[in-house]
Amino acid sequence: MNYNDIRKTFLEYFESHGHQIVPSASLIPNDPTLMFTVAGMVPWKGILQGTEPAFAPRVADVQKCIRAGGKHNDLDEVGFDGRHHTFFEMLGNWSFGDYFKADAIKMSWDMLTRVLGLDPARLRVTTHVSDDESAQIWHQVAGKDAIRMGDKDNWWSAGDTGPCGPCTEIFYDFGDAIENEDDRWVEIWNNVFMQYDRDANGNLTPLPRQNVDTGAGLERWAAIMQGCVDNYDTDLFVNLMRATEDVVGVKKTDENTPSFKIIADHLRAVGFAIADGVIPSNTDRGYVIRRILRRAMRHGQILGHRGALLSRLYPALVTEMGGAYPELAREEQRVVEIIQNEENAFADMLQNGIKLLDVEIPRVHNGVLPGDVAFKLFDTYGFPLDLTQMILRDKNITVDTDGFERAMAEQKERSRANTKGTRVLWESQSELPATDDSTKYAPDNNIESKVLAILRDGEFVQSANPGDAVEVALDKTNFYGTQGGQVGDSGDLTRGDAVVMNVAEAARVDNVVIHKGTLVAPLAIGDTVKTVINPNVRQQTARAHTATHLLQAALRHVLNEDVEQRGSKVSPDSVRFDFSFGRAMTAEEKQAVEDLVNQWIRADMPVSHEEMSLDAAKERGAMALFGEKYGDTVKVITAGDVSCELCGGTHVWHTGEIIRARVNKEKSISSGIRRITMSVGTLAE
Ligand code: ALA
Repeated sequence: MNYNDIRKTFLEYFESHGHQIVPSASLIPNDPTLMFTVAGMVPWKGILQGTEPAFAPRVADVQKCIRAGGKHNDLDEVGFDGRHHTFFEMLGNWSFGDYFKADAIKMSWDMLTRVLGLDPARLRVTTHVSDDESAQIWHQVAGKDAIRMGDKDNWWSAGDTGPCGPCTEIFYDFGDAIENEDDRWVEIWNNVFMQYDRDANGNLTPLPRQNVDTGAGLERWAAIMQGCVDNYDTDLFVNLMRATEDVVGVKKTDENTPSFKIIADHLRAVGFAIADGVIPSNTDRGYVIRRILRRAMRHGQILGHRGALLSRLYPALVTEMGGAYPELAREEQRVVEIIQNEENAFADMLQNGIKLLDVEIPRVHNGVLPGDVAFKLFDTYGFPLDLTQMILRDKNITVDTDGFERAMAEQKERSRANTKGTRVLWESQSELPATDDSTKYAPDNNIESKVLAILRDGEFVQSANPGDAVEVALDKTNFYGTQGGQVGDSGDLTRGDAVVMNVAEAARVDNVVIHKGTLVAPLAIGDTVKTVINPNVRQQTARAHTATHLLQAALRHVLNEDVEQRGSKVSPDSVRFDFSFGRAMTAEEKQAVEDLVNQWIRADMPVSHEEMSLDAAKERGAMALFGEKYGDTVKVITAGDVSCELCGGTHVWHTGEIIRARVNKEKSISSGIRRITMSVGTLAE
């Protein structure tokens, strides 16, 4: 069975057992705590936690995942064994309060042994020590004695607190010819029974709805079904590596296999991530993708290849996986352009680095390049240590790697001292409850909020004084914390009639709204305050947000219907909007867009803010963000008959409130992506 057959078989099986089949969500998660979608359950976290209603009782999908960068990182392992991937596909079936242990176990056993025809003797199962019920079910269903394991192996949660439960895992025996136990016994399916909610003290309370969350690695299933021990010997990878042989003009041998595996793996991660909207850059996920791309380029170099690599291999990826993931072909032109730009930048870096090396090589004593020179190459030109080593190897020169590590550590220390970011500090406050910000769309200036945490100078304190720059978390707030591209509210915290704190901006870390600003009166944990937003800023931001929707509609009108949002920043009275489009806009087009937006503003169309089911929103034709997965209930913002979008931001009630719009600039920010900026309201006047 090849990959396409396995995906189909899996989905058909669960569809015939009442599951709604949904396409994979984007690799870019709607979850600020994660860099990429790392598991099939990521898009469903809210439903599993009970904060979002379920849109169907049973769901199944094949989810694109990346584990590289951040907490989940397999990058350095890739290439040197048969199991690790940065990009992989996770097969998953979910019960949202519907079936539970018995049916989940029965279906996975039926799928593996009857549908896929695996030999039951080769399967082993584990359950949690506390979970007698699952052990009993395994006995009845499969005649198997489950191996009982502790929390480390068989308890799964989405985080330190929240929904969790015991899991039962199924392992496949690749045969006693394999000595290493980890390679011999491979986990091929995990069924998690989300049945408890864990609080900050570790207490477990049964959840009102019991869910099933499962995950199975498609690459591992393919290996089994194709009689391979190594995932990279399966059809998809064999074909990608063949394409690599053609492009680099070198045959795969035992010795150079790691480079071939790395290129094939990284092609998938880079290709899929860029197709989903990641742009290689120097920060966050863009940086991870840039590093992966460069790592693939380096392995091209090791194989003796120069010039474009992944951009030439991308069509092979489309051939292999484009059937299951139509976005690969749809985005082909843009993805290839972006990769080409990166490859050219890599070539420039190589050239600059080699120039520096040419100067340094004659100065080398005893055949060792000083560590600080190697570090300068890395720091200034992005030249990785192993590339420097590779180039010098031909000249019988080694690198003082201890000196390199020392220089790197010093640099890290310097940059740590410089970062003022407080996000990680807030992230460490796992016991802080989510802020109740349910009044944010209709602020109620009479709600009383309690101070839960105060951060000052990088430390959480019991109290702080006038003049202190602080960040404050409350149990409730009217403030809209920055999210979805919309800048947060500003305003005051008050006590009686007196202002206690000027809030410059409300931010958001996970589900906690953080009020950042300066105290004008003493404030202590447990104090009661009122959250008074600045109505002018709120109004200006709402104008800008609704104007962003009109702008998108106008761009699609004037340019074409394929224009898609790629990012946005909504600030008071100003808009920055990134969209997919292959060339610069002409002056006439910019004018036409501005005119159209102003025409819609003058028409003073009503703007409705409605909550409805995702299905109803789809029926209405509401535009969703590219690749985003949504819960069952969504907010829909409709401006007259020109725009209808799913959106959680704040908006005006009539387009006339926007007053006026003015297009400022339009430029390229990377291949295939344009950025347009617009002023609205009083700023545009
Ligand atoms: N959420 C579980 C996992 O990722 C199924 O292993």
